[in-house]
Amino acid sequence: MIPILDLKPQLASIRSEIDEAISGVLESGAFILGKTVAQFEERVAEHLGVKHAIGVNSGTDALVIALRAAGVGAGDEVITTPFSFFATAESICSVGAEPVFVDIVTDGFNIDVAAIEGAITSKTKAIIPVHLYGEPVNMTELMALAAKHNIEVVEDCAQSFGATYNGKQTGSFGIANAFSFFPTKNLGAYGDGGLITTNSDDVAVLCRKLRAHGGQHKYYNEMIGYNSRLDAMQAAVLNVKLNYIQKWNMQRRHVAQRYNDMFAGTDCIVTPSIAEGHVFHQYTIRLKDTDRDAVAAKMKQRGIATMVYYPVPQDQLPVFEGKYDMKPRTAQAAKEVLSLPIWPELAAEKQQEIADTLIEIIEDVRNV
Ligand SMILES: Cc1ncc(COP(=O)(O)O)c(C=O)c1O
Repeated sequence: MIPILDLKPQLASIRSEIDEAISGVLESGAFILGKTVAQFEERVAEHLGVKHAIGVNSGTDALVIALRAAGVGAGDEVITTPFSFFATAESICSVGAEPVFVDIVTDGFNIDVAAIEGAITSKTKAIIPVHLYGEPVNMTELMALAAKHNIEVVEDCAQSFGATYNGKQTGSFGIANAFSFFPTKNLGAYGDGGLITTNSDDVAVLCRKLRAHGGQHKYYNEMIGYNSRLDAMQAAVLNVKLNYIQKWNMQRRHVAQRYNDMFAGTDCIVTPSIAEGHVFHQYTIRLKDTDRDAVAAKMKQRGIATMVYYPVPQDQLPVFEGKYDMKPRTAQAAKEVLSLPIWPELAAEKQQEIADTLIEIIEDVRNV
């Protein structure tokens, strides 16, 4: 079976460094926050070109704490995309605010920045752009719009570690931004983990309080917070992986380019554009006028895993009980998208097998 992601070649290439890093933590006896986490926070902040990085338990917690630190709460509206993992909308609801969904663009998968203005009301407090699949949102236009309306921006960078827009890292634009280190992410830990980035000293202090039960000093709690601290094992792993992330992201872009070349000339596969700064957390095509689910099922029968991110738009999930109108472009994407296996070390021959099998299956399915 060819999986959607194979982490084994990566581990093999860094195994001795990982073993050493983990054993260093075991011997230190400091397992939560501490020196290893502080060192990772400093290094990752420098890597991303931000003043502060705050390690937390998960990307979801990073979003919740970032929203709280941006001053979002009950009665506020937060604009975001319907085409994302549920954690994006969930975090908005978790802080007591209301998500407002704006449809995606036609020629990609990210929020249509030009359509955001029409959704702004007097209650709009923030916008969460999601750099989906590792493709950066147009942050120049988005930041200009947010500044014009005095609205905060909280970037969801869960899928975009290392992605850049106009040479600037995603996660360096908004007031507070969220990253995930879930093991399958481009920079993945060996467990849950997340990060908040900010250029504001005040926001950094607030995030540090919020991640540790709302207090800066032990047993002196100032507000209701969370128990959401990055653990030292994960920070040690991430400290090793940070040295390689640029190389791995570049390899992902090569894999994506190779797929695009393999699919050139096929009329029902729409390939993603290799946009500047895109780090291809996922390689996602659209299948036009084809039964996507039948294709995915046949790929599985032939031993090749594919995924649909996401079959149901966030705003159409049962949790919202029919509260939101379906956004037509998102609905279309949810019907057409198919993500193919991608990881930095994916070999060209294996990729050719995936591409050839897919093309053959599509022809079969379309001829039925
Ligand atoms: C777009 C998006 N936002 C948020 C999250 C939440 O991250 P985590 O799983 O680390 O809580 C994820 C990852 O699963 C994601 O893909």
